[in-house]
Amino acid sequence: MNRRDALRNTMMWMAGSPLLRAQEVLGDTRDRFPAIDDLVNVFEFEPILKSKVPKNNYDFIAGGVDAEWTLRRNRESFDRITFRPRFMRDVSKMDLSTELFGQKISMPILVAPTAGHQLAHEQGELATARGAGQMKTIMAVSTNSSYSIDKIGAAATGPLWFQLYVGPDWDGTRDRVERAVGAGCKAVCITVDSAYGSHRERLLRNRSSAGPVAVPSPGGRRAAAPREPLPYKLQSQFTVHLTWSFLDEINKYAKVPVLVKGILTAEDAKLAVERGAAGIIVSNHGGRYLEYAPSTIEVLPEIVEAVGGKIPVLIDSGFRRGTDILKALAIGAKAVLVGRPPLWGLGAYGQAGVAKVLELLQHELALTMGLAGATNLAAIDRKLVKIDAR
Ligand code: FNR
Ligand code: LAC
Repeated sequence: MNRRDALRNTMMWMAGSPLLRAQEVLGDTRDRFPAIDDLVNVFEFEPILKSKVPKNNYDFIAGGVDAEWTLRRNRESFDRITFRPRFMRDVSKMDLSTELFGQKISMPILVAPTAGHQLAHEQGELATARGAGQMKTIMAVSTNSSYSIDKIGAAATGPLWFQLYVGPDWDGTRDRVERAVGAGCKAVCITVDSAYGSHRERLLRNRSSAGPVAVPSPGGRRAAAPREPLPYKLQSQFTVHLTWSFLDEINKYAKVPVLVKGILTAEDAKLAVERGAAGIIVSNHGGRYLEYAPSTIEVLPEIVEAVGGKIPVLIDSGFRRGTDILKALAIGAKAVLVGRPPLWGLGAYGQAGVAKVLELLQHELALTMGLAGATNLAAIDRKLVKIDAR
């Protein structure tokens, strides 16, 4: 019996024991958490983050829009896809490494841009960047990061990309891009799916209490606490004036590849290619903007077909397991981004938690690939999956 089994047996015994109540009364266990190596998948980090941060912070991270249909669909859609594994191939050596715009990374798993990492941990993006660097992959930094891009650039031990919210003014937009590129960001992702602020019902219910707050930090710039507007008021977000012509403009000054993040149709994917995007990220923003947007994995086939291999297609929204990632790679995604899981890791264990979440996903992907008969990314193709009709 290993340590984990012993712990589990003890917990099961305790659950049935009258002693448990006494334990609850006797000890304040709020600061006692499982050892990081005892966690078996990325989901297990979420309740630990939840127990460590104010409720509003957790609701901001976890929540989606309206009734969270899209948020749920992001997970449920993976159940429609099964593998067509191949056997009797030598799978003794696994290689998950890949390259994006000339940048070699250890795996096709990136950290998605998410706002205000100090909502999860006082070290915020500094810790996330180091956790991603530890795992030799890319972190995309949000326009709305808690720390300045210069500080994150100085702290980073691996490659960074920059996520751009365009506007409200063009000069400010250009400044942000140039500053990010100056801080070392190797690509810019323009987020196009959030013209208006969305109706985050979890946060609206919390409005009587204080808005999300940064976990106290000795030095960092505080996250602008996202405060929900009045229900059903049309509140323009940053990108309200954005059209495709912006790609012409930014390509003149960006000096790095520019990707479009938030594509959900073949039509827009084709426009992105025509208008000079270096890549696209299929995304519904983790179910946080347009309710009844489709899940991303269900639209990936039409988008991959429309793009026809001209530029890399990346994807995010709902990826939590190695199997999810392999499904997207098989359909034709070049890489997958994860948004909430690194935040769970960050809130739970800081830099080590970010690295551990990425490592678990990497292990799961390697295992799934090995069991399905693919030893490297080039060996993965569309025949590896079967997509059930609805
Ligand atoms: C986001 N996302 C996001 N996207 C973006 O382009 N700029 C941003 O500032 C943010 N902020 C943000 C905050 C939080 C708390 C979350 C959860 C998400 C969306 C993000 O980049 C990504 O598309 C989704 O998070 C992917 O879905 P999963 O992996 O969270 O399910
Ligand atoms: C969000 C914004 C910040 O998803 O992108 O909350």
